[in-house]
Amino acid sequence: MNIELLRASNLRCFEKVSLAPGPGINWLVGPNGAGKTTLLEAAYILSHGRSFRAGGRTAPRRRGASDYLVYAEVLRVDKSRVRLGLTRVDDRWVGRCNGEDLSSLAPLFEACPVVYFGPESHTLILGPAEERRSFLDWSVFHVEHASLSLWKAWRRALRQRNALLRQGAAERDFEPWEHEMDQLAVRIHAMRSHCLSGLEPYLVEEASHLVPELGALQIHYRPGWDEQMGLFGQLNLDRERDRERGFTQHGAHRADWSLVFGDVAQREHLSRGQAKAAALVCALALTRWLNDNVGEYPLLCLDDLESELDAVHTTRVTQWLSGRLIQSWLTSTRTPTPDTLAAGTRVFHVEHTGCG
Ligand SMILES: Nc1ncnc2c1ncn2[C@@H]1O[C@H](COP(=O)(O)OP(=O)(O)OP(=O)(O)O)[C@@H](O)[C@H]1O
Ligand SMILES: [Mg+2]
Repeated sequence: MNIELLRASNLRCFEKVSLAPGPGINWLVGPNGAGKTTLLEAAYILSHGRSFRAGGRTAPRRRGASDYLVYAEVLRVDKSRVRLGLTRVDDRWVGRCNGEDLSSLAPLFEACPVVYFGPESHTLILGPAEERRSFLDWSVFHVEHASLSLWKAWRRALRQRNALLRQGAAERDFEPWEHEMDQLAVRIHAMRSHCLSGLEPYLVEEASHLVPELGALQIHYRPGWDEQMGLFGQLNLDRERDRERGFTQHGAHRADWSLVFGDVAQREHLSRGQAKAAALVCALALTRWLNDNVGEYPLLCLDDLESELDAVHTTRVTQWLSGRLIQSWLTSTRTPTPDTLAAGTRVFHVEHTGCG
Protein backbone atom coordinates (compact mmCIF):
# COMPACT_ATOMS: atom_id res chain seq x y z
CA MET A 1 0.00 0.00 0.00
CA ASN A 2 1.05 3.59 -0.52
CA ILE A 3 0.17 6.59 1.55
CA GLU A 4 -0.56 9.20 -1.11
CA LEU A 5 -1.35 11.98 1.31
CA LEU A 6 -0.71 12.39 5.01
CA ARG A 7 -2.08 15.23 7.08
CA ALA A 8 -1.75 15.89 10.77
CA SER A 9 -2.99 18.64 13.07
CA ASN A 10 -1.70 19.61 16.48
CA LEU A 11 0.91 16.89 16.36
CA ARG A 12 4.02 17.88 18.36
CA CYS A 13 5.55 20.94 16.65
CA PHE A 14 3.04 20.96 13.81
CA GLU A 15 -0.16 22.93 14.02
CA LYS A 16 -0.90 21.62 10.55
CA VAL A 17 1.30 19.60 8.24
CA SER A 18 0.82 17.63 5.06
CA LEU A 19 2.99 15.37 2.97
CA ALA A 20 2.30 13.84 -0.46
CA PRO A 21 4.94 11.14 -0.78
CA GLY A 22 5.76 9.11 -3.87
CA PRO A 23 5.33 5.36 -4.23
CA GLY A 24 9.04 4.54 -3.80
CA ILE A 25 11.80 5.99 -1.64
CA ASN A 26 11.04 9.32 0.07
CA TRP A 27 13.73 11.20 1.96
CA LEU A 28 12.55 13.62 4.64
CA VAL A 29 15.42 15.99 5.23
CA GLY A 30 15.79 18.75 7.78
CA PRO A 31 17.69 19.94 10.83
CA ASN A 32 17.30 18.48 14.32
CA GLY A 33 13.89 19.22 15.77
CA ALA A 34 12.32 20.02 12.37
CA GLY A 35 9.63 17.33 12.72
CA LYS A 36 10.97 14.48 10.55
CA THR A 37 10.36 11.76 13.12
CA THR A 38 6.97 13.32 13.86
CA LEU A 39 5.85 12.65 10.27
CA LEU A 40 6.86 8.99 10.61
CA GLU A 41 5.15 8.93 13.98
CA ALA A 42 1.92 10.20 12.41
CA ALA A 43 1.81 7.26 9.98
CA TYR A 44 2.75 4.83 12.75
CA ILE A 45 -0.03 6.09 15.03
CA LEU A 46 -2.56 5.23 12.32
CA SER A 47 -1.24 1.70 12.10
CA HIS A 48 -0.75 0.99 15.82
CA GLY A 49 -3.04 3.32 17.77
CA ARG A 50 0.00 4.52 19.70
CA SER A 51 3.35 6.17 19.11
CA PHE A 52 6.72 4.42 19.05
CA ARG A 53 7.99 7.14 21.38
CA ALA A 54 7.71 7.14 25.15
CA GLY A 55 5.20 9.30 26.98
CA GLY A 56 1.78 7.76 26.45
CA ARG A 57 -0.98 8.51 24.00
CA THR A 58 -1.33 12.20 24.80
CA ALA A 59 2.40 13.02 24.52
CA PRO A 60 2.24 13.69 20.75
CA ARG A 61 -0.45 16.35 21.30
CA ARG A 62 0.91 19.78 20.50
CA ARG A 63 1.52 21.80 23.62
CA GLY A 64 -1.58 23.83 24.45
CA ALA A 65 -3.88 21.94 22.02
CA SER A 66 -6.88 19.91 23.17
CA ASP A 67 -6.67 17.10 20.63
CA TYR A 68 -4.60 15.87 17.68
CA LEU A 69 -5.52 14.33 14.39
CA VAL A 70 -3.85 12.16 11.80
CA TYR A 71 -5.38 11.61 8.36
CA ALA A 72 -4.14 9.55 5.41
CA GLU A 73 -5.26 8.70 1.91
CA VAL A 74 -4.07 5.23 1.12
CA LEU A 75 -3.82 3.49 -2.24
CA ARG A 76 -4.18 -0.25 -1.80
CA VAL A 77 -2.61 -2.85 -4.03
CA ASP A 78 -6.03 -3.61 -5.56
CA LYS A 79 -6.11 0.08 -6.63
CA SER A 80 -8.87 0.96 -4.16
CA ARG A 81 -8.43 4.12 -2.12
CA VAL A 82 -9.23 4.51 1.56
CA ARG A 83 -9.39 7.63 3.67
CA LEU A 84 -8.36 7.01 7.25
CA GLY A 85 -8.57 9.37 10.20
CA LEU A 86 -7.66 9.07 13.83
CA THR A 87 -8.28 11.77 16.40
CA ARG A 88 -7.17 11.73 20.02
CA VAL A 89 -9.87 13.48 21.99
CA ASP A 90 -9.30 13.66 25.77
CA ASP A 91 -8.33 10.09 26.60
CA ARG A 92 -9.96 8.20 23.75
CA TRP A 93 -9.45 7.56 20.05
CA VAL A 94 -12.01 8.37 17.41
CA GLY A 95 -11.24 6.42 14.23
CA ARG A 96 -12.82 7.01 10.83
CA CYS A 97 -12.62 5.11 7.55
CA ASN A 98 -14.04 6.64 4.34
CA GLY A 99 -16.03 9.13 6.40
CA GLU A 100 -17.65 6.55 8.71
CA ASP A 101 -16.98 6.40 12.45
CA LEU A 102 -15.37 3.14 13.51
CA SER A 103 -16.32 1.13 16.57
CA SER A 104 -12.84 -0.46 16.66
CA LEU A 105 -9.49 0.70 15.29
CA ALA A 106 -8.78 -2.68 13.67
CA PRO A 107 -9.79 -1.51 10.14
CA LEU A 108 -7.23 1.32 10.39
CA PHE A 109 -4.45 -1.00 11.50
CA GLU A 110 -5.35 -3.39 8.72
CA ALA A 111 -5.54 -0.78 5.95
CA CYS A 112 -2.39 1.08 6.85
CA PRO A 113 0.41 -1.22 8.06
CA VAL A 114 3.57 0.71 8.94
CA VAL A 115 6.89 -0.85 9.93
CA TYR A 116 9.19 1.50 11.80
CA PHE A 117 12.90 1.39 12.54
CA GLY A 118 14.60 4.22 14.40
CA PRO A 119 17.30 5.34 16.81
CA GLU A 120 15.80 3.41 19.74
CA SER A 121 15.12 0.20 17.82
CA HIS A 122 18.01 -1.65 19.47
CA THR A 123 15.59 -2.11 22.39
CA LEU A 124 13.76 -4.67 20.24
CA ILE A 125 16.84 -6.85 20.65
CA LEU A 126 18.26 -5.72 24.01
CA GLY A 127 15.24 -4.27 25.78
CA PRO A 128 12.36 -5.78 27.74
CA ALA A 129 10.28 -8.68 26.37
CA GLU A 130 7.31 -6.33 25.98
CA GLU A 131 8.93 -4.78 22.89
CA ARG A 132 9.30 -8.16 21.20
CA ARG A 133 5.80 -9.26 22.20
CA SER A 134 4.32 -6.09 20.65
CA PHE A 135 6.27 -6.71 17.44
CA LEU A 136 5.06 -10.31 17.29
CA ASP A 137 1.46 -9.57 18.27
CA TRP A 138 1.19 -6.78 15.69
CA SER A 139 2.43 -9.26 13.07
CA VAL A 140 -0.04 -11.90 14.28
CA PHE A 141 -2.90 -9.38 13.98
CA HIS A 142 -2.25 -8.90 10.26
CA VAL A 143 -2.82 -12.58 9.54
CA GLU A 144 -5.31 -13.32 12.35
CA HIS A 145 -7.64 -10.38 12.97
CA ALA A 146 -9.46 -12.45 15.61
CA SER A 147 -6.35 -12.16 17.79
CA LEU A 148 -7.50 -8.71 18.99
CA SER A 149 -10.50 -10.15 20.80
CA LEU A 150 -8.40 -12.98 22.27
CA TRP A 151 -5.92 -10.54 23.78
CA LYS A 152 -8.75 -8.46 25.16
CA ALA A 153 -10.25 -11.56 26.80
CA TRP A 154 -6.81 -12.56 28.08
CA ARG A 155 -6.20 -9.15 29.68
CA ARG A 156 -9.61 -9.28 31.36
CA ALA A 157 -9.00 -12.76 32.81
CA LEU A 158 -5.52 -11.77 33.94
CA ARG A 159 -6.80 -8.62 35.66
CA GLN A 160 -9.44 -10.72 37.37
CA ARG A 161 -6.94 -13.30 38.65
CA ASN A 162 -4.59 -10.55 39.87
CA ALA A 163 -7.49 -8.94 41.75
CA LEU A 164 -8.31 -12.30 43.38
CA LEU A 165 -4.67 -12.74 44.39
CA ARG A 166 -4.64 -9.35 46.10
CA GLN A 167 -8.01 -9.92 47.79
CA GLY A 168 -6.83 -13.22 49.29
CA ALA A 169 -9.78 -14.98 47.60
CA ALA A 170 -10.61 -18.65 48.21
CA GLU A 171 -9.10 -21.37 45.98
CA ARG A 172 -12.41 -22.17 44.29
CA ASP A 173 -12.78 -18.59 43.04
CA PHE A 174 -9.65 -18.97 40.93
CA GLU A 175 -10.67 -22.06 39.03
CA PRO A 176 -13.02 -20.60 36.38
CA TRP A 177 -10.58 -17.79 35.56
CA GLU A 178 -7.59 -20.13 35.43
CA HIS A 179 -9.50 -22.44 33.09
CA GLU A 180 -10.30 -19.53 30.84
CA MET A 181 -6.70 -18.30 30.95
CA ASP A 182 -5.47 -21.75 30.05
CA GLN A 183 -7.77 -21.97 27.03
CA LEU A 184 -6.99 -18.45 25.82
CA ALA A 185 -3.25 -18.87 26.33
CA VAL A 186 -3.18 -22.06 24.26
CA ARG A 187 -4.85 -20.23 21.35
CA ILE A 188 -2.63 -17.15 21.65
CA HIS A 189 0.45 -19.39 21.83
CA ALA A 190 -0.63 -21.29 18.71
CA MET A 191 -1.05 -18.06 16.74
CA ARG A 192 2.24 -16.62 17.95
CA SER A 193 4.31 -19.70 17.28
CA HIS A 194 2.72 -20.18 13.87
CA CYS A 195 3.44 -16.57 12.98
CA LEU A 196 7.01 -16.76 14.24
CA SER A 197 7.78 -19.94 12.32
CA GLY A 198 6.45 -18.16 9.21
CA LEU A 199 8.69 -15.16 9.93
CA GLU A 200 11.76 -17.23 10.75
CA PRO A 201 12.97 -17.92 7.18
CA TYR A 202 12.58 -14.21 6.36
CA LEU A 203 14.60 -13.27 9.45
CA VAL A 204 17.27 -15.83 8.61
CA GLU A 205 17.54 -14.61 5.03
CA GLU A 206 17.68 -10.91 5.90
CA ALA A 207 20.27 -11.60 8.62
CA SER A 208 22.46 -13.48 6.16
CA HIS A 209 22.46 -10.41 3.87
CA LEU A 210 22.59 -7.61 6.40
CA VAL A 211 24.67 -9.03 9.28
CA PRO A 212 26.51 -12.11 7.95
CA GLU A 213 29.34 -11.28 10.38
CA LEU A 214 27.13 -12.31 13.35
CA GLY A 215 26.80 -15.92 12.17
CA ALA A 216 23.77 -18.07 11.41
CA LEU A 217 20.53 -16.92 12.97
CA GLN A 218 18.08 -19.00 14.99
CA ILE A 219 14.85 -17.86 16.60
CA HIS A 220 14.03 -18.92 20.14
CA TYR A 221 10.51 -18.61 21.47
CA ARG A 222 9.10 -19.09 24.98
CA PRO A 223 5.31 -19.11 25.44
CA GLY A 224 5.41 -17.72 29.01
CA TRP A 225 4.83 -20.91 31.01
CA ASP A 226 6.03 -24.51 31.23
CA GLU A 227 4.48 -26.11 28.18
CA GLN A 228 4.74 -29.65 29.54
CA MET A 229 2.87 -28.74 32.70
CA GLY A 230 0.33 -26.60 30.85
CA LEU A 231 -0.78 -23.18 32.06
CA PHE A 232 -3.59 -24.53 34.22
CA GLY A 233 -1.14 -26.72 36.17
CA GLN A 234 1.40 -23.92 36.31
CA LEU A 235 -1.08 -21.40 37.74
CA ASN A 236 -2.09 -23.94 40.38
CA LEU A 237 1.50 -24.49 41.33
CA ASP A 238 2.28 -20.76 41.38
CA ARG A 239 -0.77 -19.64 43.35
CA GLU A 240 0.79 -19.18 46.78
CA ARG A 241 3.83 -17.41 45.41
CA ASP A 242 1.61 -15.28 43.16
CA ARG A 243 -0.43 -14.30 46.24
CA GLU A 244 2.74 -13.10 47.97
CA ARG A 245 3.80 -11.10 44.92
CA GLY A 246 0.30 -9.89 44.11
CA PHE A 247 0.51 -10.70 40.39
CA THR A 248 0.54 -13.62 37.95
CA GLN A 249 4.06 -14.67 37.00
CA HIS A 250 3.26 -17.02 34.15
CA GLY A 251 0.98 -16.77 31.13
CA ALA A 252 0.62 -15.36 27.64
CA HIS A 253 1.68 -11.94 28.99
CA ARG A 254 5.16 -13.32 29.70
CA ALA A 255 5.94 -14.77 26.26
CA ASP A 256 9.24 -13.80 24.66
CA TRP A 257 11.27 -14.56 21.57
CA SER A 258 14.80 -13.73 20.61
CA LEU A 259 17.30 -13.69 17.80
CA VAL A 260 20.23 -15.99 18.56
CA PHE A 261 23.27 -15.50 16.34
CA GLY A 262 25.77 -18.36 15.91
CA ASP A 263 28.81 -16.15 16.50
CA VAL A 264 27.44 -14.17 19.46
CA ALA A 265 27.58 -16.01 22.81
CA GLN A 266 24.79 -13.92 24.39
CA ARG A 267 22.76 -11.01 23.17
CA GLU A 268 24.26 -8.65 25.75
CA HIS A 269 27.53 -9.06 23.84
CA LEU A 270 26.04 -7.23 20.87
CA SER A 271 27.23 -3.66 20.46
CA ARG A 272 24.50 -1.04 20.11
CA GLY A 273 25.15 -0.76 16.39
CA GLN A 274 24.99 -4.55 16.00
CA ALA A 275 21.73 -4.64 17.98
CA LYS A 276 20.37 -1.91 15.73
CA ALA A 277 21.36 -3.86 12.64
CA ALA A 278 19.64 -6.93 14.13
CA ALA A 279 16.50 -4.84 14.72
CA LEU A 280 16.71 -3.72 11.11
CA VAL A 281 16.78 -7.39 10.11
CA CYS A 282 13.43 -7.73 11.92
CA ALA A 283 11.96 -4.70 10.15
CA LEU A 284 13.02 -5.84 6.67
CA ALA A 285 11.91 -9.43 7.32
CA LEU A 286 8.52 -8.26 8.60
CA THR A 287 8.10 -6.03 5.53
CA ARG A 288 8.62 -8.94 3.11
CA TRP A 289 6.67 -11.41 5.24
CA LEU A 290 3.66 -9.06 5.27
CA ASN A 291 3.74 -8.77 1.51
CA ASP A 292 3.86 -12.55 1.05
CA ASN A 293 1.17 -13.24 3.66
CA VAL A 294 -1.20 -10.30 3.34
CA GLY A 295 -0.54 -9.46 -0.30
CA GLU A 296 0.66 -5.94 0.39
CA TYR A 297 3.87 -4.25 1.47
CA PRO A 298 3.61 -2.01 4.50
CA LEU A 299 5.03 1.50 4.51
CA LEU A 300 8.61 1.11 5.70
CA CYS A 301 9.84 3.99 7.87
CA LEU A 302 13.58 4.18 8.46
CA ASP A 303 14.31 7.00 10.87
CA ASP A 304 17.83 8.36 11.00
CA LEU A 305 19.30 5.24 9.44
CA GLU A 306 22.88 6.48 9.61
CA SER A 307 22.93 6.93 13.39
CA GLU A 308 25.12 4.12 14.68
CA LEU A 309 24.93 2.12 11.46
CA ASP A 310 28.17 2.23 9.50
CA ALA A 311 28.38 2.96 5.78
CA VAL A 312 28.51 -0.74 4.86
CA HIS A 313 25.24 -1.57 6.63
CA THR A 314 23.55 1.62 5.44
CA THR A 315 24.47 0.83 1.84
CA ARG A 316 23.12 -2.72 2.17
CA VAL A 317 19.77 -1.27 3.27
CA THR A 318 19.56 1.32 0.52
CA GLN A 319 20.39 -1.40 -2.04
CA TRP A 320 17.69 -3.61 -0.51
CA LEU A 321 15.19 -0.77 -0.94
CA SER A 322 16.13 0.23 -4.45
CA GLY A 323 15.51 -3.32 -5.68
CA ARG A 324 11.89 -3.36 -4.50
CA LEU A 325 8.63 -1.52 -5.13
CA ILE A 326 8.03 -0.51 -1.54
CA GLN A 327 6.99 2.88 -0.27
CA SER A 328 9.59 3.97 2.24
CA TRP A 329 10.14 7.14 4.25
CA LEU A 330 13.71 7.79 5.32
CA THR A 331 14.88 10.68 7.44
CA SER A 332 18.20 12.46 7.54
CA THR A 333 19.67 15.74 8.63
CA ARG A 334 21.72 15.82 5.41
CA THR A 335 20.42 16.00 1.85
CA PRO A 336 21.49 12.80 0.10
CA THR A 337 23.90 13.38 -2.75
CA PRO A 338 22.30 12.96 -6.20
CA ASP A 339 24.58 9.99 -7.07
CA THR A 340 23.19 7.99 -4.11
CA LEU A 341 19.55 8.55 -5.10
CA ALA A 342 17.76 5.71 -6.89
CA ALA A 343 15.50 6.69 -9.81
CA GLY A 344 12.12 7.98 -8.66
CA THR A 345 13.34 8.96 -5.20
CA ARG A 346 11.68 12.06 -3.77
CA VAL A 347 13.28 14.44 -1.34
CA PHE A 348 11.20 16.60 1.03
CA HIS A 349 12.61 19.40 3.13
CA VAL A 350 10.97 19.42 6.53
CA GLU A 351 10.77 22.76 8.26
CA HIS A 352 9.01 23.60 11.41
CA THR A 353 7.31 26.91 11.46
CA GLY A 354 6.61 28.17 14.93
CA CYS A 355 7.00 25.27 17.33
CA GLY A 356 4.38 25.61 20.04
N1 LIG B 1 3.95 17.82 22.54
C1 LIG B 1 4.70 18.69 21.88
N2 LIG B 1 4.26 19.94 21.66
C2 LIG B 1 5.01 20.84 20.96
N3 LIG B 1 6.22 20.54 20.43
C3 LIG B 1 6.71 19.31 20.61
C4 LIG B 1 5.99 18.32 21.36
N4 LIG B 1 6.72 17.18 21.38
C5 LIG B 1 7.84 17.45 20.71
N5 LIG B 1 7.85 18.72 20.24
C6 LIG B 1 8.85 19.36 19.35
O1 LIG B 1 8.61 18.82 18.06
C7 LIG B 1 9.79 18.97 17.28
C8 LIG B 1 9.88 17.82 16.34
O2 LIG B 1 10.58 16.73 16.86
P1 LIG B 1 11.07 15.55 15.93
O3 LIG B 1 11.59 14.53 16.86
O4 LIG B 1 10.02 15.14 14.98
O5 LIG B 1 12.25 16.21 15.09
P2 LIG B 1 13.30 15.57 14.08
O6 LIG B 1 13.25 16.39 12.83
O7 LIG B 1 13.05 14.12 13.93
O8 LIG B 1 14.67 15.83 14.82
P3 LIG B 1 16.02 14.95 14.94
O9 LIG B 1 16.82 15.21 13.69
O10 LIG B 1 16.69 15.53 16.13
O11 LIG B 1 15.64 13.53 15.12
C9 LIG B 1 10.94 19.21 18.24
O12 LIG B 1 11.37 20.53 18.06
C10 LIG B 1 10.29 19.01 19.62
O13 LIG B 1 10.84 19.86 20.57
MG1 LIG C 1 14.14 12.45 14.50
